[in-house]
Amino acid sequence: MLDIQKIRADFPILNQKVNGKPLVYFDNGATSQKPQVVIDAISKYYQEINANIHRGVHTLSQLATDAYEVARGKVQHHINAKHAHEVLFTSGTTFGINLVANGFAAILKPGDEVIVSHLEHHSNIVPWQMLCEKTGATLKVIPMSENGELIMTEYDKLLSGKTKIVAVNHISNALGIINPVKYMIDKAHEVGAAILIDGAQSVPHLKPDVQALDCDFYAFSGHKMCGPTGTGVLYGKEEWLHKLPPYQGGGEMIKEVTFEKTTYADLPHKFEAGTPHIAGGIVLGTAIDYLNSVGFENIQKQELELLAYATERLSEIEGLRIYGNSKNKTSVISFNIEGIHPYDIGTIIDKLGIAVRTGHHCAQPIMNFFGIPGTIRASFSFYNTKEEIDALVEAVKKAKMMLS
Ligand code: ALA
Repeated sequence: MLDIQKIRADFPILNQKVNGKPLVYFDNGATSQKPQVVIDAISKYYQEINANIHRGVHTLSQLATDAYEVARGKVQHHINAKHAHEVLFTSGTTFGINLVANGFAAILKPGDEVIVSHLEHHSNIVPWQMLCEKTGATLKVIPMSENGELIMTEYDKLLSGKTKIVAVNHISNALGIINPVKYMIDKAHEVGAAILIDGAQSVPHLKPDVQALDCDFYAFSGHKMCGPTGTGVLYGKEEWLHKLPPYQGGGEMIKEVTFEKTTYADLPHKFEAGTPHIAGGIVLGTAIDYLNSVGFENIQKQELELLAYATERLSEIEGLRIYGNSKNKTSVISFNIEGIHPYDIGTIIDKLGIAVRTGHHCAQPIMNFFGIPGTIRASFSFYNTKEEIDALVEAVKKAKMMLS
């Protein structure tokens, strides 16, 4: 059992008042809060070893380079990648997806097909649309059902020899639905297609095993898993990273440059042009250590309890509808109250100290499917409590009374 009060003491931001009320932070799907060890590690980097990496023989540069590569190793072990050079540091999930989509421009031809799902965040739709516009390939969409699940029989029908890449999220940011990615990966491979998993919403809740999954790419952000903003990872299978062209040209990604021709550096540097977010990469390693010290089994147990409790308590409110009722869900509840705009509820409950996200959550096709402008999304983390859910329920009841 987790000692929640002890865990909460690790997160200084949680212990404050917002609008005169104790902060209830339920916007973890947007970004998680940071524990003191992460905050301290950022200062320590700048106080003690700040230097550019891979460039100098001087001691600080060596220390910074070593720390950055140690962090890459931590990520490798965390996601069980076969090689450290299959782990690319990025600025976040969006960058990783764009890197792959851009690389596929060199591979796709008119008539080829790219598959995404109806449950995607815009960052796993738009780069593929841009790719299709550039290459003449066609974008196909796996449909969803009323309870928010992807329809696998339709996915099976969309797959064919024309499919070159499938891009799907592990967990939907808007609804919290966990997709059957292992099935989807195996099916994509049966037709010879590559598959990218958008893990932005999964890495705070589970430890992905990229070798067991056998995905070709797995993209995620550091800031949703207790790390700094502006950090992320793209895992790519070695063979794919050799096949794809570099995304950005610049320093550090080359072997040799002449005006006639440039040859590229070995992996992972081929994809890491320019000075990266060095402190961010190192501290992402600290965040991963922190989450592992809490333990993903403990995290899941606590979050699923919060999900069950919040689902039950919110369902007491008349006229409240929860979107995404699948059993395969993580700790996200997206809801609306009949006749009231989600933004109005969000604004009132903010005055009561409660932070939720309102709107389309960068997933407009899901909102269009349900015929709504948006939802109120409460997304819980392991450091949240049932008492905070009680505060949410009371606040929503109050907002409903004021607005109806
Ligand atoms: N993609 C993040 C969210 O779902 C920002 O809120």
